[in-house]
Amino acid sequence: MHAADSSQRFGIVLNNRVVRTPVAIASMAGWVDAPYVLARRDHVGAAFIGGYSIDEPTMKAAREMTAQGRKEFLYDDPVEELSAQVTRLEESGVVTGLNLRGSAPESYEAIAEIFGERVIYEIDAHCRQEPMIRAGCGEFFLHHPDRLMDTIKALKSTGATVSVKIRAGVHHDDRILAKELWRSGADIIHADLMDFGYQKLRQIRNSSPLFLIANNSITSFERMKEMFSHGADMVSLARRSDERTLAGLDAAITRYSDEHGWYNAPKQLCRGGDIRALSFCCMPVKNCPLLPTLERIGMTRDEYIALKMESVKGTPLEEGKQTCFGSLSWCCKDSSPCMFRDLTIRQVGLTNPDYMRLKCELAAKLIKKIFNDRNHDNPG
Ligand SMILES: Cc1cc2nc3c(=O)[nH]c(=O)nc-3n(C[C@H](O)[C@H](O)[C@H](O)COP(=O)(O)O)c2cc1C
Ligand code: SF4
Ligand code: SF4
Repeated sequence: MHAADSSQRFGIVLNNRVVRTPVAIASMAGWVDAPYVLARRDHVGAAFIGGYSIDEPTMKAAREMTAQGRKEFLYDDPVEELSAQVTRLEESGVVTGLNLRGSAPESYEAIAEIFGERVIYEIDAHCRQEPMIRAGCGEFFLHHPDRLMDTIKALKSTGATVSVKIRAGVHHDDRILAKELWRSGADIIHADLMDFGYQKLRQIRNSSPLFLIANNSITSFERMKEMFSHGADMVSLARRSDERTLAGLDAAITRYSDEHGWYNAPKQLCRGGDIRALSFCCMPVKNCPLLPTLERIGMTRDEYIALKMESVKGTPLEEGKQTCFGSLSWCCKDSSPCMFRDLTIRQVGLTNPDYMRLKCELAAKLIKKIFNDRNHDNPG
């Protein structure tokens, strides 16, 4: 399939590159490097290689961890090592991220100055090994968020695309963390959800508009879909990133996307969906979860009605005289059977996947308005 076609299918662009499928490889120090990714290149859209230690204190920590029996990437010159890895992945078709461990913002900045736009820079705020925490990275960042925000800003000063790998439940409030990551300029939140599951993912989604990668035990299509319908833009796998599992997920989401149009459509709000579900919500005429949601985002009913009408102006979603509220903009997800909606969809010459793609565009407009223009406070 051509890049243009796959771009259309999932609509994902990271670091100015089209991502072929919303399945990624998450880093495992000592294991996930260029050869590891190349062996799986046909089934993933992105890969975060590493973690790589990038300065003396973190390289020392890696040696200490190796002495304690952990597998780590060891080398004397991080730039030489990273250069070899990045070069091997350049023509792979896999969008590459470097999972990095550094002891100071300047160390990250120095690496980004060297590699520029060739890769995404992922800050490892996840590692819980004592030597790394003592060196000032991994979980240290989640207990010292100011240090994390300084590191993001240092990387962003070079124009880099920045991902932050977090472990859920370490920071005292992941909703606040998500919001701070966004305000500090990060581009991607890569969240190991641990045992918290989709409820935690939804909290993060509702707190920031950033590209969101869900991680932890995503080994079946069911689990992957659960992540997509509660806010994930992409899923990643580490321990089970074997070819068979990755290929299965890639094929399943590709099929799903072709059938339904919007691969990560949220559940309806009243079924536990995240904030993107506003694109399926009715007019605010009854007592239902829409009202408390509007209250949390500080939007009046009239503002919500006006925003939705304005967002569908000039698009086929404006149509639908026979539908409950006079326009498809208020209509339900394609999975809720409705002959009035389906009749309108066909009258305006659309297929159901087209309808869902338009709802996806509507959700993007609503999210932009809610987060960027209104600067709202935590809908949680
Ligand atoms: C052996 C091993 C090494 C890991 N090394 C790193 C690392 O260097 N940086 C990082 O951010 N996460 C690291 N992780 C965490 C994984 O990327 C991932 O978040 C975690 O394993 C949960 O996802 P999974 O269920 O798909 O394995 C490591 C995990 C394992 C098992
Ligand atoms: S407005 Fe409609 S779709 Fe939204 S929560 Fe209420 S009943 Fe559900
Ligand atoms: S017309 Fe059908 S799809 Fe549209 S709001 Fe009414 S029930 Fe939902």
